[in-house]
Amino acid sequence: MEIKITRAETLKEKPESSKLVFGKSMTDHMFIVDYDEGQGWHDPRIVPYGPLLIDPAAKVLHYAEEIFEGLKAYRDAQGKIQLFRPLDNIDRMNKSAERLCMPQIPQDLALAGITELVKVERDWVPHEEGASLYIRPFMIGLDAQLGVHSSKHVQYVVVVCPVGAYYPEGLAPVKIFVEERDVRAVKGGTGMAKTGGNYAASLRAGHQAEQKGYSQVLWLDGVHRKYIEEVGAMNVMFKVAGKILTPDLNGSVLDGITRRSCLQLLRDWGYEVEERRISAEELFQAAENGTLEEAWGTGTAAVISPIGELAMGEKKVSINHNQIGEVTRKLYDQLTGIQWGRVADPHNWIMPL
Ligand code: PLP
Ligand code: COI
Repeated sequence: MEIKITRAETLKEKPESSKLVFGKSMTDHMFIVDYDEGQGWHDPRIVPYGPLLIDPAAKVLHYAEEIFEGLKAYRDAQGKIQLFRPLDNIDRMNKSAERLCMPQIPQDLALAGITELVKVERDWVPHEEGASLYIRPFMIGLDAQLGVHSSKHVQYVVVVCPVGAYYPEGLAPVKIFVEERDVRAVKGGTGMAKTGGNYAASLRAGHQAEQKGYSQVLWLDGVHRKYIEEVGAMNVMFKVAGKILTPDLNGSVLDGITRRSCLQLLRDWGYEVEERRISAEELFQAAENGTLEEAWGTGTAAVISPIGELAMGEKKVSINHNQIGEVTRKLYDQLTGIQWGRVADPHNWIMPL
């Protein structure tokens, strides 16, 4: 399918990389392709960035018929641009689409939307260390009718923006609050899908945690309210007595691509890794008996983010004296090394543009 390109008449001024706020500086163009039942995907196009015209009765506005992805384009030292595991994002989008009863998008079309847009916006891919172009593909249900049914008319849209660190802390450890009242997701729900509704459910707890000085919340499972799941925008890992622990993919946790990549690297390095149920109590006990050695989050936006403090109710523990730990640092260096093309890529995660 040929992608029609309509160029913007005026181009925006590009922000300085050191002043970037995550997700605020959208570029000059966006990619759109329509889907209509019976017709399939049609009219792929790159157009000037701007508001979407959406009927007020569209399902996305009322019933959150929406799924999204997040990946990044990186510029290597030679100035070439590369993507990190984009096909994993597209596969995950199609899994989310299945859960939300939205159409599957062919891999080559979803990928072309990403690569052709990044090519048009190549001057927006930052040159500075640590900055990249964040890519946000999303799919929305547009049928203008208030009945609760899946849409027959859908759009897949891609927007991009240059980004630096997700947390203002950068690589300094973040403080995380274990949430005991609100629940993000339950098995059988949409927790494993990347869909807007999960994030809407997270807003209240996230807001309250921020007011108490925490960056994000660590969610507990929705049934026992005991086992840790993930943080608002990242999966979590812990080093306890030399072993790496991370919650298993139980159906309500997002199958993070950074998580997958870190587990592979850790296994390559010979660490014993356990993907299993981990209670918050087990973690706090490990902190109290001195075996909780490191904690970090993993995510496309968050990259590898050291966790320096965990709080639950009145309990508070500091991890590795609130300093980035050795394994956390090694993962950060290796992963970002692969992403920015500084080190070898033994698992073929990089796709040059
Ligand atoms: N968990 C949640 C809830 C997220 O929003 C994200 C971000 O995408 C992640 C985990 C990490 O996933 P990934 O590593 O694929 O970015
Ligand atoms: C990402 O890391 O790509 C995400 O989607 C996190 C986002 C919710 C900010």
